[in-house]
Amino acid sequence: MIDFKKYIAEKISENIESAQNINKYIEVPPNDDMGDYAFPCFQLAKVLKKAPQIIANELKENLKTDNIITKIDVQGGYLNFYINKEILAEEVIKEIYNNEKYGFSKKGEGKNIIIDYSHPNIAKPFHIGHLRSTVIGQALYNIYEYQGYNVKGLNYLGDYGTQFGKMIEGYKRWGSEYDIEEKPIEKLTEIYVRINNLCKEDEKVLDECRNNFKKLEDGDEYCVELWKKFRDLSLKEFQKIYDILGGRFDSWEGEAFIAPKAREVIEILEKNGALVKSEGAKIVDLESKGINTPCIIEKSNGSTTYASRDLAAILYRARTYDFDKALYITSYEQNLHFKQVFEVAKLLGLDEKYTNGLEHVSFGMILLPTGKMSTREGNTIKLEELLEESIQRAETIIETKNPDLENKKEVAKKVGIGAIIFNDLSNNRVKDEIFNWESILNFQGETGPYIQYTYVRTNSILEKIEQLPDVSKIDFSLMTDKYSQDIIKLIYNFENILEQVTDKNEPSILSRYLIDLSKAYSTFYNENKIIVDDENIKNSRVYLTLAVNKVLKIGANLLGIQMPDKM
Ligand code: ARG
Repeated sequence: MIDFKKYIAEKISENIESAQNINKYIEVPPNDDMGDYAFPCFQLAKVLKKAPQIIANELKENLKTDNIITKIDVQGGYLNFYINKEILAEEVIKEIYNNEKYGFSKKGEGKNIIIDYSHPNIAKPFHIGHLRSTVIGQALYNIYEYQGYNVKGLNYLGDYGTQFGKMIEGYKRWGSEYDIEEKPIEKLTEIYVRINNLCKEDEKVLDECRNNFKKLEDGDEYCVELWKKFRDLSLKEFQKIYDILGGRFDSWEGEAFIAPKAREVIEILEKNGALVKSEGAKIVDLESKGINTPCIIEKSNGSTTYASRDLAAILYRARTYDFDKALYITSYEQNLHFKQVFEVAKLLGLDEKYTNGLEHVSFGMILLPTGKMSTREGNTIKLEELLEESIQRAETIIETKNPDLENKKEVAKKVGIGAIIFNDLSNNRVKDEIFNWESILNFQGETGPYIQYTYVRTNSILEKIEQLPDVSKIDFSLMTDKYSQDIIKLIYNFENILEQVTDKNEPSILSRYLIDLSKAYSTFYNENKIIVDDENIKNSRVYLTLAVNKVLKIGANLLGIQMPDKM
């Protein structure tokens, strides 16, 4: 497709010698009567020592309109450009027609991105924060990949820690009383609570637990065996959620795998003189970096910490994946942790490429109307149940709207899960969100089901068409009205939207876009009859419908949402 921004930038550059990076300054104005693109002359005013409005007027005199740019006008310090609507429509429709992977680019070719996401803790519930991490991480995975990046998804499992010493002790004592194969997470949690209480009463039991953990680290057969069992059973349970939600992982190497590698981190920092002793522990003081809490690298009992393991993982991942970007998808509760870790990582002697590539992609909390959903406060809802409930509710809605629909169950699954995924991605990720069934499943609201519903509408129109005429037969002058152009422009921007998503690691940019596109199509649909007698008009409207159909599907799939054919 013609890159209109670039086309305009080149035209301007030909007329101003001192101009640089014109492309970067060209904007898309907020409304149509300010043109399709605008060039603000303010930054040139400084260089040329002239008022922006004068520069704009001079430029307008010198720039010639042509077949592509049909009109140029000046408003304030802005130069507004109007694109030939017919050419724009032709470019977009032909590209959509010819390109199965519309919007795909090779921008990221040769670049390695690793995404540390989902990362639940074994023998503990997979909570709503892990859900959000999974959904955001997966969407980013898909979108980076669609731009040609080489992406790896890392499920950095929380499978390490002194609690496993306790769990082993509990299982040793009462294992036979619990059916941990049946409901592993629930039963293991019960055992954990029970042994924890005993530890509080009896110091000797606590010593036993510590001893178990030591044995586990040293590779004791019995302890390792049990730990593996807990891990495998937990993973089997998590897999049920991944089967429903998706989740693409190239590695399941968790904290336990990394822990032995933390020695190297401690040695490097020791050599650097960065480590300070503090109450028996070894820490890095970050005061001079504006971080008031020191980063604890080794506990007083000599064991590694969450931070030192993350540092070891950075070393390991730099060597293993040679990453250009390493994204960590967690809630903002871990802001301090990553600030510390990224600062200390600069002391490990790594190439700057790696330390510059580290990025914490944080997100807000999901709040139940009753408050925070957290394990500690005991009001967690079980995730599998949440997903099931969503499917159930979707089924009830479908039952009333379209009782004759075939495979309702399958459709309800796509709608129910799509609603949850979309909800997690619909707002700026750092915002907290209140979870509300009515709004996430509202077919008319700004929801996943609304996008699916629009898609299904386009499907039923396309189904009525026996044979699409060749694209060369389309009269593009029939797509120059406002409603068609609103759609065409959005579709033209699709690739740019994807770029914005990865620039900011913000999938909500794509979610908002899909809502805008669905709304634009609904307006178009309400204003126009599509299957009309006039063949030319009909074909042009059908092609527009096809374009919307394709982009909605590609976009939703990139977010991890499946589209039903009917609903
Ligand atoms: N397992 C941790 C949790 O549930 C998240 C791990 C995040 N990733 C990391 N590299 N620290 O809180």
